[in-house]
Amino acid sequence: MKFKAMAGTQLIKPRIREILSKELPPGLVEKLPKHWVQIGDVLILPLRPELELYKSRIAEVYAEVLGVKTVLRKGRIGGEFRETNYEVLYGSDTVTIHVENGVKYKLDAAKIMFSPANVKERLRMAKVAKPGEVVVDMFAGIGHLSLPMAVHRKAKVIAIEKSPYTFKFLVENIELNGVQDRMTAYNIDNREFLGEEIADRVLMGYVVRTHEFIPKALQIAKDGAIIHYHNTVPERLMSREPFNTFERTARKHGYETEKLNELVIKRYAPGVWHVVVDVRVFKK
Ligand SMILES: C[S@@+](CC[C@H](N)C(=O)[O-])C[C@H]1O[C@@H](n2cnc3c(N)ncnc32)[C@H](O)[C@@H]1O
Repeated sequence: MKFKAMAGTQLIKPRIREILSKELPPGLVEKLPKHWVQIGDVLILPLRPELELYKSRIAEVYAEVLGVKTVLRKGRIGGEFRETNYEVLYGSDTVTIHVENGVKYKLDAAKIMFSPANVKERLRMAKVAKPGEVVVDMFAGIGHLSLPMAVHRKAKVIAIEKSPYTFKFLVENIELNGVQDRMTAYNIDNREFLGEEIADRVLMGYVVRTHEFIPKALQIAKDGAIIHYHNTVPERLMSREPFNTFERTARKHGYETEKLNELVIKRYAPGVWHVVVDVRVFKK
């Protein structure tokens, strides 16, 4: 079975090349994408500018050979809601259900990020939570990190998501995974969340500006809670960041910290890394 799947992958790429080498000008076949991301039955294809004129036909061939309904062009992720806004190259339906580690994630792959590079963190979260503990996910998205905790560890999750569009999928995913009894969602800015000292664990799965939300995370955390603090860090600061900023802010707000773990998630930009630190916090 394993051999068959690998052999299949080997055969697919020559087939794409075979079809397109008859249609593209000489030299362009070598520029076709060799790697892509598949989310459910939607393909996200990085396409070089030289292929612009032929993008629709290229997408059509990839869709047919790889058996997907829609092909998107990989682009930038940005803004407060970390939206993707990927161009649709083939097909029209960009909503799909992606299954990973037994968790169903429904999302609009053209608008909402679902990073393959974050898979290790999603798997890790499925293991760290304890049954019955209260987890507050301050940047829930579609439930990327907290659905695995509710599904696999029976954690009680409060998921906060500010974007109304992403929130719609978060709510659907709670139902799709049958965890309505232990997962609640709020469509608010997490700074408006009123809970104080309620969480055994706080998820801060955000980048670039996560430090601005540390005081709120401390307010939500119980004495002795664990905070999973993500942020982006320039390489030259990685020996001390992002923990130092967290520690300094926590101290200012009357908390001691204990660093439990630190992991690099992925390269975010040239010379900048996405890092997560697990920190236990204690009230002074
Ligand atoms: C980059 S996504 C990450 C999702 C998930 N935490 C992960 O790490 O895979 C961050 C999410 O946080 C949401 N968000 C941004 N600012 C927020 C805020 N102040 N309150 C609640 N949600 C927010 C965005 O809309 C987006 O869906």
